[in-house]
Amino acid sequence: MLNDELLAKLNDQMNYEFYSSQVYLSLASYCASESWDGFANFFTVQAEEEKFHGMKMFHFINDMGSRALVTGMKDPETDFRSILETFETAYAHEKEVTRRIYELSDIALGQREHATLQFLNWFISEQVEEEATFDNILQRLKRIGNDSQTLFILDAEMAKRTFAPEAGA
Ligand code: FEO
Repeated sequence: MLNDELLAKLNDQMNYEFYSSQVYLSLASYCASESWDGFANFFTVQAEEEKFHGMKMFHFINDMGSRALVTGMKDPETDFRSILETFETAYAHEKEVTRRIYELSDIALGQREHATLQFLNWFISEQVEEEATFDNILQRLKRIGNDSQTLFILDAEMAKRTFAPEAGA
């Protein structure tokens, strides 16, 4: 059984993962509205991944004999001006997720809650991958600048992304 502090933090992170899914859907919608269908696909897949992350926490909390409480969070941002800005937003968001996962791990460590620590290790590895992915695309976008032809090539690459939870989504 999880203690109250850890349960509350895990529950909050579960809801933050569901909120993250909305953040990425909002980014996808902006891209789609600007006819960048590849970037829209990339963010739509990311939204699915975030829902998957939230569900991992949902099942863990319930498996530990507690009850996951699904609540709403704030509205996602909707005001974007460029593809570059969408990836700046995404990268900053992932850094915040990493900070939150570390904070959760610190609490679990302090409580010698080894099952939760082991569970959170998956998220720590996932955050390394996610931050690297967003940073990589962000750096490429900065190099591309206003070269729309190269941006079209990157958009086509982003169109190929698919949701693959078994591969470590
Ligand atoms: Fe679930 Fe992108 O962190």
